[in-house]
Amino acid sequence: MLGTDLLQEWETDEVIPATSQDADIRDSQQVRSLLARTRPDWTVLTAAYTDVDGSERNPEQAFAVNATGAENVARAAQECGSRLFFVSTDYLFDGTATRPYEPEDPIAPLNVYGQSKAAGERAVRENHTHWCIARTSWLFGTSGVCFPEKILRAAESRPELTVVADQVGSPTFTRDLAQAIRDLVRGDARGTLHVTNAGSCSWFEFAREILRQAGRDSVSVLPTTTAEAARPAKRPAYSVLSLASLHARGLRLRHWRDALTAYLKELREQGKLT
Ligand SMILES: NC(=O)c1ccc[n+]([C@@H]2O[C@H](COP(=O)([O-])OP(=O)(O)OC[C@H]3O[C@@H](n4cnc5c(N)ncnc54)[C@H](OP(=O)(O)O)[C@@H]3O)[C@@H](O)[C@H]2O)c1
Repeated sequence: MLGTDLLQEWETDEVIPATSQDADIRDSQQVRSLLARTRPDWTVLTAAYTDVDGSERNPEQAFAVNATGAENVARAAQECGSRLFFVSTDYLFDGTATRPYEPEDPIAPLNVYGQSKAAGERAVRENHTHWCIARTSWLFGTSGVCFPEKILRAAESRPELTVVADQVGSPTFTRDLAQAIRDLVRGDARGTLHVTNAGSCSWFEFAREILRQAGRDSVSVLPTTTAEAARPAKRPAYSVLSLASLHARGLRLRHWRDALTAYLKELREQGKLT
């Protein structure tokens, strides 16, 4: 989802797309030969095992991709003199904070996915000397399966949806994140920072706004709790990321509600929403 938008947003520099067909990041040799062949100035690692509940059932797979994969890319990038950009997650935090998380705040992931991404971050820091880690949250975009798409699909067949109201975070449009990554790389950014759309909400509020903006407000949304939803992976109750580190680099993303409007417009232009 993010990788596709990144390629579209990054027109003027020379960009070499790489998918899992070009290199399985679990395989250090495949990664080394890809980077030795292409010799990029920057390597942007967006690939990950992103199935949060699936990671509980299959922790080996989550760690193989998100931790060992990140280590393989970090080592290969260091070897060929490429700087490294790594995309990480708000699910590193345990959600007990009462104000937005800063990059320096202690991490304590509640689920296997978060633990595997934390191990990925460590691998980047330990195996590379010129890196930038951007943590983001609640991604949505037109090139992948995401929450707004699921809500819109569910609304086609159900008059009433039940959505969790006690988890708060910041929805982030992959197109906006892609532009920020492009600008950070062009600005030779280093260190750990947080990149999300502005504002925050619960999944319940997000669902209501999706249906309102899509003109489907005849479908009602009922709030439920995390406990009632009983998903395999624990999720933080509050994972809003402070954007001070982004603003300090002169970058600012629009409010998630405006980003949602742009997403729905894009869906309509692609004929995926009437
Ligand atoms: N989605 C979110 O809400 C969210 C929130 C916070 C952070 N993030 C982070 O943001 C980044 C982008 O997320 P996304 O939602 O755009 O991801 P996505 O749509 O799930 O795409 C992940 C990509 O990784 C590739 N991949 C998986 N295993 C691989 C392997 N072993 N070798 C090479 N490629 C592999 C997949 O390729 P195949 O399909 O061919 O396997 C897929 O193209 C990830 O680092 C994720 O951890 C996501």
